[in-house]
Amino acid sequence: MKKDLLKLLDLSKEDILHILNTADQMKYNQKHGLTHNHLQGKTLAMIFEKNSTRTRVSFETGMYQLGGHALFLSGKESQIGRGEPTEDTARVLSRYCDGIMIRTYSQEEVEKLAKYATIPVINGLTDFAHPCQVLADLMTVRERQSRLEGLKMCFIGDGNNMVNSLIVGGLKVGMDVSVACPEGYDPDPKVLAFAKTVTGSKFSLVRDPKEAAAGADVVFTDVWASMGQEGEAQKRRAAFEGVYQVNDALMALTNKGCMVQHCLPAHRGEEITAEVFEAHADEIFDEAENRLHAQKAVLYLLMGEDRPC
Ligand code: CP
Ligand code: NVA
Repeated sequence: MKKDLLKLLDLSKEDILHILNTADQMKYNQKHGLTHNHLQGKTLAMIFEKNSTRTRVSFETGMYQLGGHALFLSGKESQIGRGEPTEDTARVLSRYCDGIMIRTYSQEEVEKLAKYATIPVINGLTDFAHPCQVLADLMTVRERQSRLEGLKMCFIGDGNNMVNSLIVGGLKVGMDVSVACPEGYDPDPKVLAFAKTVTGSKFSLVRDPKEAAAGADVVFTDVWASMGQEGEAQKRRAAFEGVYQVNDALMALTNKGCMVQHCLPAHRGEEITAEVFEAHADEIFDEAENRLHAQKAVLYLLMGEDRPC
């Protein structure tokens, strides 16, 4: 049966760790000039209904490095933008390609695409989740801290796709997760319901960023207004400004050696100060780099598992 990567809720702890271990191997291979044509002759269709820099470039480069090919399909320029049903796009692309990566608005659209496609589907961001980003994030934290289990992850800001995936990913690998969001901007109820079922790791959702940051080993943040929410930017600014920001005062409450991660793009002076961003730039750009390695692992595991790594 074909496998997909639609959201981290679908993965077990073992699945996540298997992807992270494969990603480490991909990175090692890349750094040591060991090339592998695991996906030779295979094609990935990449559907973008929202903007992207990292996701597009890392998937396209990753496919090339694995010996395959990636096709960029803009929502606007393809028939998707003229209303061709998702179920038809899924079946057509399944006749040409070996995998589909999609960045869009609704998670339901991605789930429907996967239901009708006979090839693996990868979620490259929806309003609900950003699983590829969080795999890269976990990889980066493990790389720098040598472990995940028992570390405290904190997220400051909007209860968006990033925090939804961070809560699920963090708790599944045994991290404690503490989130601070303003009232009215909580993570998705499905994610909060999942968090309630977790035993072993601690989860908290609070209003005060200082409470969430206390004793953290890694602090995450993201934009106050995500793609598709541009019209709410002013209202959101009023809800977040002055409180939901990663700054020096907040970092002073964290554990020694605490990391800062941001999926990017970042808005300096809003969710993070320029000072904190620059002080942690190495970690943040490692995180961006690891999108490539983590996604190569996902591509290999979903589209090329028949060939040894
Ligand atoms: N972090 C991330 O997904 O970046 P892009 O929007 O540039 O793809
Ligand atoms: N939450 C952001 C993440 C961008 C990578 C957005 O959806 O726009």
